[in-house]
Amino acid sequence: MPNNTLNLSGKHILLGVSGGIAAYKAPILVRRLVEAGAIVQVVMTANAHHFVTTTTLQAVSGHVVRDDLWDQAAEAAMGHIELARWADHILVAPATAGTIARLANGEASDLLSTLCLASNAPVSLAPAMNQQMFAHPAVQRNLTTLKTDGYQIVGPDSGDQACGDTGLGRMTEPEEIVQALNASSAKIGTGPLAGQTLMVTTGPTREAIDPVRYISNHSSGLQGLAVAEAGRQAGARVILIAGPGVDPCHGDIARFNVTSAQEMYDRVHEHLPETDLFIGVAAVADYRPANAQQQKIKRHTQAEDQVQLPLIENPDIIASVVQAQQAKVVVGFAAETNDTLQNAREKRARKKLDAIVVNDVSDQRIGFNSLDNAVTLIHTGGEIDFGVQPKTAIAEQLISQLAELFAPKLQA
Ligand code: C5P
Repeated sequence: MPNNTLNLSGKHILLGVSGGIAAYKAPILVRRLVEAGAIVQVVMTANAHHFVTTTTLQAVSGHVVRDDLWDQAAEAAMGHIELARWADHILVAPATAGTIARLANGEASDLLSTLCLASNAPVSLAPAMNQQMFAHPAVQRNLTTLKTDGYQIVGPDSGDQACGDTGLGRMTEPEEIVQALNASSAKIGTGPLAGQTLMVTTGPTREAIDPVRYISNHSSGLQGLAVAEAGRQAGARVILIAGPGVDPCHGDIARFNVTSAQEMYDRVHEHLPETDLFIGVAAVADYRPANAQQQKIKRHTQAEDQVQLPLIENPDIIASVVQAQQAKVVVGFAAETNDTLQNAREKRARKKLDAIVVNDVSDQRIGFNSLDNAVTLIHTGGEIDFGVQPKTAIAEQLISQLAELFAPKLQA
């Protein structure tokens, strides 16, 4: 057995096959999983029968293939709840648009969707469909919902499709699906934040002046992106609320893009009930234009010394998170240019944060658009300095410190 599939050895994998042309690869996928040491039971949807036979899947898996919630003989041998408990990991490959919609809606309308609801095992989906279907907002919305619910999405790949189109929608090749499953099996249930949901805000916000102009700041979102990634690697389910211009992130992170502070506020509160640990890294604009214009503001024809732009205050997102008392631990970031530590200590106390991470953005080596940073973590019990180093290294140390410092609160 190759080393890179070691984590699947002895694992019970429930493979759900739904009805798309990529189902013809399902027998190969079963073979690869079995070669990796997994014990595989296959469940087919009604439509999958149009593309692959039970006989084939039964032969390669060595187990009876299930396809009906109401099959009395099969239920007598192993009821669907027992089957759901049997699974260490559920893999749906191919996952068609219809199956994805059923799962996103929490339906229990066939055996496979019922099993996904009835199991507490992690679920991975390998979407496969026509590129136009995959690009449809409804499919994208459903996938975002599933990511937020903790599903792992593997692929799809881009390339030639059975229907003659070319684009994003091909099922990821069986070998790569096995590798992705193997990597996530190593991760699941391990790490200091296993079982916790971490929400991170990152990047700047943009506050519209008119349709072409806005107020913003220099934040790149890199530090928050690194915190989200470090949280994922520490075993947390991660929700990332990202302002404009933030780089892409790992596919397992449930990401929501926003533009303004108000949108960031709304998204944060939408997902706050699921959040255990909130880390606000975003450089949220404190003020926005009081009257954003619907049409481009014209230059004045007569020269004027000054043009006034009235501003009103944006909601303080992190203060509202503290006030909501839904997350168990709330951590802020502060970018300061002077009296760094003193300002941050006051800010932590004023916003009633569990901890604050402060950096001096007047230092040219670190901060906004740099890959490096240097921060101090201020919490009730003390202060910890992290010297100049890559933002990714800072993020890893911060996550491990926070997990340790706040373990009693997070695990309460
Ligand atoms: O802008 P300030 O330095 O006060 O930001 C400190 C913390 O407050 C950061 O974690 C930032 O994400 C958060 N913040 C916020 N909403 C605002 C302003 C700041 O959540 N309107």
